[in-house]
Amino acid sequence: MKKRSLSILPLFAAGVCFVVLVFSGTASARIHHPKYKKAGREIIPGQYVIEFSDGQTNHGDTLVRSIRKEFKHADVKVKEKYHHSLFNGVSFDIKGLNEDDHQNALKSILDQASVASVYPVTYIDRPATQPFSVKAGEPSILPHAMTQVDRVHKELKNTGKGIVVGILDTGIDYKHPALGGGFGPGYKVAVGADVVGDDYTAENPVIKPNPTPLDECGASSGATGHGTHVAGIIGGYDPSTNFTGVAPDATLGMWRVFGCNGRTGNDIIIKALLMAYDAGCDILSLSLGDNSGWSEGAENVVAERIVKKGVPVIVAAGNDGASGVFTVGSPSTAPGVMSVASFDNAYILVKQFTVGGDSANPILTHSDYSIGYIPGSKETMPDGELVLADPNGSGEGCDASKVSADVKGKLALIKRGTCTFDEKAINVAKAGAIGAVIYNSDGDAFGMSMPTAPIPAVSVSSGTGAKLIGEIKKGKTVLTFKKKDTVLPSSTGNTVSSFSSVGASYELHLRPNLAGIGGNVFSTLPRYLGSWGSMSGTSMATPYVSGTLALYLNALGKKKQKPEYITEQLQNYAYIAPYANDVKELDSPLRQGAGLVQIYDAIKQDVHISPAQISFNDTSSSRYKTHTLTITNHGHSTITYQVINNVSTAIAPYDLKKSGYAPVEPTVNVKAAAKLRVSSNHIRVPPRSSKKVRVTVIPPRTDPKEHIMYGGFVQFKALHNRHNNKDITVPYFGVVGDQRELPIFDDSPYLSDITGSNIYGKNETFVFDPKDENTTPYILFRLLTPTARIDAELLDHKNKVIGYAFNGLEYLPRNTMNPENYMNVIGWSGTYVPKHPSNAPFAVPVPPGTYRFRWRALKLLGNPHKHRDYEVWESGPIKVV
Ligand SMILES: *[C@@H]1O[C@H](CO)[C@@H](O)[C@H](O)[C@H]1NC(C)=O
Ligand SMILES: *[C@@H]1O[C@H](CO)[C@@H](O)[C@H](O)[C@H]1NC(C)=O
Ligand SMILES: *[C@@H]1O[C@H](CO)[C@@H](O)[C@H](O)[C@H]1NC(C)=O
Ligand SMILES: *[C@@H]1O[C@H](CO)[C@@H](O)[C@H](O)[C@H]1NC(C)=O
Ligand SMILES: *[C@@H]1O[C@H](CO)[C@@H](O)[C@H](O)[C@H]1NC(C)=O
Repeated sequence: MKKRSLSILPLFAAGVCFVVLVFSGTASARIHHPKYKKAGREIIPGQYVIEFSDGQTNHGDTLVRSIRKEFKHADVKVKEKYHHSLFNGVSFDIKGLNEDDHQNALKSILDQASVASVYPVTYIDRPATQPFSVKAGEPSILPHAMTQVDRVHKELKNTGKGIVVGILDTGIDYKHPALGGGFGPGYKVAVGADVVGDDYTAENPVIKPNPTPLDECGASSGATGHGTHVAGIIGGYDPSTNFTGVAPDATLGMWRVFGCNGRTGNDIIIKALLMAYDAGCDILSLSLGDNSGWSEGAENVVAERIVKKGVPVIVAAGNDGASGVFTVGSPSTAPGVMSVASFDNAYILVKQFTVGGDSANPILTHSDYSIGYIPGSKETMPDGELVLADPNGSGEGCDASKVSADVKGKLALIKRGTCTFDEKAINVAKAGAIGAVIYNSDGDAFGMSMPTAPIPAVSVSSGTGAKLIGEIKKGKTVLTFKKKDTVLPSSTGNTVSSFSSVGASYELHLRPNLAGIGGNVFSTLPRYLGSWGSMSGTSMATPYVSGTLALYLNALGKKKQKPEYITEQLQNYAYIAPYANDVKELDSPLRQGAGLVQIYDAIKQDVHISPAQISFNDTSSSRYKTHTLTITNHGHSTITYQVINNVSTAIAPYDLKKSGYAPVEPTVNVKAAAKLRVSSNHIRVPPRSSKKVRVTVIPPRTDPKEHIMYGGFVQFKALHNRHNNKDITVPYFGVVGDQRELPIFDDSPYLSDITGSNIYGKNETFVFDPKDENTTPYILFRLLTPTARIDAELLDHKNKVIGYAFNGLEYLPRNTMNPENYMNVIGWSGTYVPKHPSNAPFAVPVPPGTYRFRWRALKLLGNPHKHRDYEVWESGPIKVV
């Protein structure tokens, strides 16, 4: 999963040192109409998903005919048809019209009685992961002991047989022996389709569907084999290496929604969701999404409806943990959908070299030892003597004239910095080096992109660099690169992965809900990528959890349970982890949800608690302070529990002294414990009965300005435990403070010209000639806090609101320090949607005159009808000539 991708406005690059998010100023973004559903995400211009108000199939064609008749130049067609009880509609493409006609065409669609809603089509990014290329399976790298999957296989003889898990992803190499070797009835990959074809991208929607979801993009295409990796995690099996997926006898379905490269559109996701539902999948697994915690958009609606029909939908929480709080993305935030966090595998496959002297060399001063590295280029490193690249230079190898002649036929040790990795390699290769070892100036080994390096290279940590320099000074130092990867215990094993996105949802629901293993996961790759390899991401944790659901459904047999109940049962018995392996304090539910899935207990334990998670919300009202949990004993003996409050670390989202309300990236742990008052500390639950426990929070007494996010687990400790009843935990969290007091804008928005660097103050008049694009006024704005809407009002010279200068500023995520979404930029086209539309709800040009922008941004959890719940900014005068 990746950030929303961004267009770069080249003109800004010169003046401003950051990359910006540009809202496309298309006609569709400027509509005010009750049937038009705002997206708040990057939209694909001219494309819409239309939902009809009845079950008729021919509305799409009727619409096309009437648009063609009314607008002669319209190039209009139906892209996808969704004739389905869950969603009856079409996706629609309108081209060839000028902006006014485009708006009028859209209005005539919106005005049809048969049309219930119109959604803009939005981009869905290709999931990004961190691939390692590793050959051959290592059975001990499998994480199944951490999740009790091994016990379910062995003791319950349950391998998920008969359960169909549907996956939406990049396709699958089903010819891989571990994935069944074929496609169709009787094969492991029994259902699915290629919905789009190799060449499809959302920008260039050439759709060539294929009957099977085969990924044969080839190594040179740049494809990562994401879908094949995900599928292997759920259901791969290879007796020759003992590689076993979570549910190795489950049946898989794959709907390929990405081409070999690029992004997809949510119209394709909707189509694939409905196809997978119709194919009779028991579970749907989506390792994709964006970084916005709002759950608007048509694919969220469809996912929610599928869950309501009884099919669990499991979605990755996102990989933006490094960017702090509020980074869990949609559609994992949709109601009923399960949002999955990632834990690191206990073991990691690493590449290593051995450091030694030369046995032929009598002055061998050190005994051999091994060091881990990250490969930087496609070729394998040759073994050889290691020497300093430029002992009389900076050590960085950036000045070819300073490179030591001694590197000839040897490996060169170079410091990171100043010039590119390629330049370093080129410089030492010129002097005859056969390989390069680049050490970090400060920190761990790192990934290197080296497209033009003539020799292979690897990276090591700054500590290793210092050590190797010491060895070279002592005597001849020889590196031997191990052919096979080594399985080593990981220092972060069994804790939340650092990349895993942090909750909560913007409306303070607990997200993520549950965790699977997503850090350093070994699985299948397409044969064109070497058949096997490790990847990391919530993309990997998601199929892991989907696989455990297959085991759970298999254990249920003919009995039916609602997705909500199943999610709760998995949450009830999850493993809760400390925030690091050398501390006792538990990690926050905002990172781990209910914890790491423990599937044997979820299947075998027959006490159930509902709800299985609590949000105490913020402290602005007392409404959410008390929750009632219901404990139901489906077993045969009475169980007594002691109820305790197991406090987790709290999260400080902001550093008010240093950076104000700019979220700290990544978040910082602090101690701040809530007290819980429970209606009874001991509860006795006889067989086939339920008991209720009321839990009331007394939040920690931290400064409400800090907005500390506290948390913990209501722990039900099983007493007098003759029947091996397990403890049950219910995660909770809350915020000390009022979310409505969080500022929305970082500083204020800025009015700027096309350079992006000439900022106009309140007293400076901006002159705009709508006929000359170079005079366009731009607004630069950075959101510290997500906002559900910005009303971008246009004021006339008397400061009277005459309408809206920009639309489409709804459901915006917060910005992060990541250059890719550091700031938003939007240009004004000189049009506005009048406040009192006489006939059309669409934009019209402003007459010449002097205007101002007034932006009113709704505070988080603010009431849209209350004036004081908005943050307001006003620009200086803009003279339209
Ligand atoms: C696979 O597992 C079995 C049973 O544990 C063992 O006997 C066999 O040697 C393993 N095979 C490989 C290739 O590791
Ligand atoms: C580096 O400098 C030392 C003296 O400071 C000199 O002896 C040696 O030859 C120099 N090496 C190179 C490669 O220039
Ligand atoms: C938190 O409170 C706000 C109102 O202040 C409400 O809109 C929101 O739904 C609540 N969230 C949860 C999870 O209760
Ligand atoms: C809190 O939970 C952890 C993890 O399950 C457990 O080790 C610890 O004993 C619990 N704390 C208390 C006070 O029971
Ligand atoms: C802008 O003009 C007003 C009124 O003329 C004046 O009071 C104010 O100081 C000016 N502000 C700036 C920043 O120049």
